[in-house]
Amino acid sequence: MKSVTVHAPTDSFLLECSTIAPDKSISHRCAMFSLLSDKPSTIKNFLLGEDTLASLSIAEQLGATVVRDGSNLSITPPEKLTEPNDILDCGNAGTGMRLYAGLLSGIEGSFILTGDKYLRSRPMNRVAIPLRDIGAKIDGRENGNLAPLAIRGGALKSFRYDSPIDSAQIKSALILAALQADKKSYYKEELLSRDHTERMLRGMGASVKTNKEGWIEIEPLNSPLKPLNITVPADPSSGFFFAVAAAITPNAKTIIKNVTLNPTRIEAYKMLEKMGATISYIEKENIYEPIGDVEISYNGKLSAITVENNIAWLIDELPALSIAMALAEGKSLVKNAKELRVKESDRIATVLEGLNACSIETIEHEDGYEIIGGTLQSSTINSYGDHRIAMSFAIAGLNCGMNIDDVACIDTSFPNFFTILSQLTTIE
Ligand code: S3P
Repeated sequence: MKSVTVHAPTDSFLLECSTIAPDKSISHRCAMFSLLSDKPSTIKNFLLGEDTLASLSIAEQLGATVVRDGSNLSITPPEKLTEPNDILDCGNAGTGMRLYAGLLSGIEGSFILTGDKYLRSRPMNRVAIPLRDIGAKIDGRENGNLAPLAIRGGALKSFRYDSPIDSAQIKSALILAALQADKKSYYKEELLSRDHTERMLRGMGASVKTNKEGWIEIEPLNSPLKPLNITVPADPSSGFFFAVAAAITPNAKTIIKNVTLNPTRIEAYKMLEKMGATISYIEKENIYEPIGDVEISYNGKLSAITVENNIAWLIDELPALSIAMALAEGKSLVKNAKELRVKESDRIATVLEGLNACSIETIEHEDGYEIIGGTLQSSTINSYGDHRIAMSFAIAGLNCGMNIDDVACIDTSFPNFFTILSQLTTIE
């Protein structure tokens, strides 16, 4: 429950950053997918954040041998995944819990997935119901919706599932189950959610194809997959805090190096560009994903924006984008974003509470909000244990100074956040 004070800098800045945290989504998947091979996977630049280390520990509890050299890992899977003799703790990570629920549903044995108090209050029916429908035995509090989840893995039936929510966590859980099902399975979502699972599994040799009608066709595995050999790119969601920092600070510029440019992950940058910031993307390589640098420069006062499409592509960045909206000219609108209510906190409530504390006028809707751009006043913000709320308001501190209570949560995804921020300003 540590608090910090971020002071407004006296000067502009040029931040060229090659130490933005490695991608969280990809790191989780590295820990899990290495279990699907029979050979050691080589992972460079794994995110050493609490969430992804929790996924790695679970892989070890399931029998993997992990050799660590800083953030470089070798993960050797066991011959057969073992039933762990203790509970599996996913920490704060929805991705960890939901994807492991899909993977473990198809493995003989008994598994208990739990997490911190925030994760234990997040809905799990979105994966538990479709997994139960194909034969998984999953139970938990409130009729199986809340963790701890008790899973008894076993044989799974193939499926055809048209998902009511555009969610990479649901999709990935179902794909991991489909790899263990009796026959070919089909999965569909309205908007393609982040597709790291499909790209990585395809790279490992799995048959995961999208057909003309938009259904993902998944063939069950008949042999172990090739191991992963990957350098995890920087996380665009983490980099986005420093993108906003540049966009709101006169004459500032941020260069984020070696970040994934996967279109399902950089929509928030496109929105910031639409608000008036100058942004360029320089693709350098394509290994599982396009990877390159993004440069963001201040280009005068930002303009208000309406965000209502492709919401799954920027859901994690909406808290930071809201800081830009608070400083923009005019009224911004966020719509179709009710998923914000079930993230690490109810992010519609926590973003608006924080902005109101900074004297910004807002209007709350069930599926979004309006922000009337104005002048931010320094205040004290409660993060409610949500890393992205804590980091968003720390960035707002560059504009007006800010106290943020409960910043320990930042270690879940971006342990060196304050090290980078301290290159721009003073933090106590
Ligand atoms: C993630 C998917 C998204 C995102 C989360 C990470 C993933 O959640 O918000 O931070 O790695 O699959 P949903 O799939 O629930 O939208």
